[in-house]
Amino acid sequence: MSKRIDVKDLNVYYGNFLAVEDVNINIQAKSVTAFIGPSGCGKSTFLRTLNRMHEVLPGARVEGEVLLDGDNLYGAGVDPVTVRTQVGMVFQRPNPFPTMSIRDNVLAGVKLNNKKISKGAADALVEKSLVGANLWNEVKDRLDKPGSGLSGGQQQRLCIARAIAVEPQVILMDEPCSALDPISTLAVEDLINELKDQYTVVIVTHNMQQAARVSDKTAFFNIAGTGKPGKLIEFADTTSIFNNPGQKATEDYVSGRFG
Ligand SMILES: Nc1ncnc2c1ncn2[C@@H]1O[C@H](COP(=O)(O)OP(=O)(O)O)[C@@H](O)[C@H]1O
Ligand SMILES: [Mg+2]
Repeated sequence: MSKRIDVKDLNVYYGNFLAVEDVNINIQAKSVTAFIGPSGCGKSTFLRTLNRMHEVLPGARVEGEVLLDGDNLYGAGVDPVTVRTQVGMVFQRPNPFPTMSIRDNVLAGVKLNNKKISKGAADALVEKSLVGANLWNEVKDRLDKPGSGLSGGQQQRLCIARAIAVEPQVILMDEPCSALDPISTLAVEDLINELKDQYTVVIVTHNMQQAARVSDKTAFFNIAGTGKPGKLIEFADTTSIFNNPGQKATEDYVSGRFG
């Protein structure tokens, strides 16, 4: 099941440093939203607030609200561990557990959540998740081999399988293709396009062609200068951001004039 995310008046801090200021954004369910903008403008920082990964760093905190289908993820009594099962994350570098088998990698997140699961149910979940990650046909005959034996692109799809095995409602991806070759990148982009039938997908990318190819909506973030906070400048349909941006800064960025 896929859920929407509504962010209200969000400020994101590292200690006293305000890294991202006053974000308001409504991310639709069953869609792909891309975050673009120059390096250091806070895309990763903001993304990590959407599943409470930001606050794992000492001194890191937020002000404001992030609502998942109306429920504030930062509300009193909300368990961040539960939030992370609802809002999964895929990182820049594929990070399968190297010595763990492909099968156990898929199940790693589920086991971390202390879910008891029978062998039959686990087999079914492994297959479903790998099918969902467009990886099943490539690995079905070597599920007991280590995840590290896969190519970079396959490892990233394995990480996506691990994320979807937990049955999240939202999947966050931080530059998931930046360590991949072009063919693997296309495989992951195809997968992202399929994932939105079931999940809300948010992807940070520095590749504007990729944002244009995979996303329905695009958010452009920018920063006025070093030490200044990043801000959300414009959020709209991807086609408008690229063809008819409302802000000069967006136009300069998407036309390659800076960043
Ligand atoms: N762990 C951290 N501690 C302190 N400051 C950080 C940390 N990570 C990022 N920052 C700062 O937050 C700002 C936004 O960084 P980041 O979110 O990584 O930007 P982007 O992903 O858009 O390149 C930058 O000024 C960066 O130096
Ligand atoms: Mg980043």
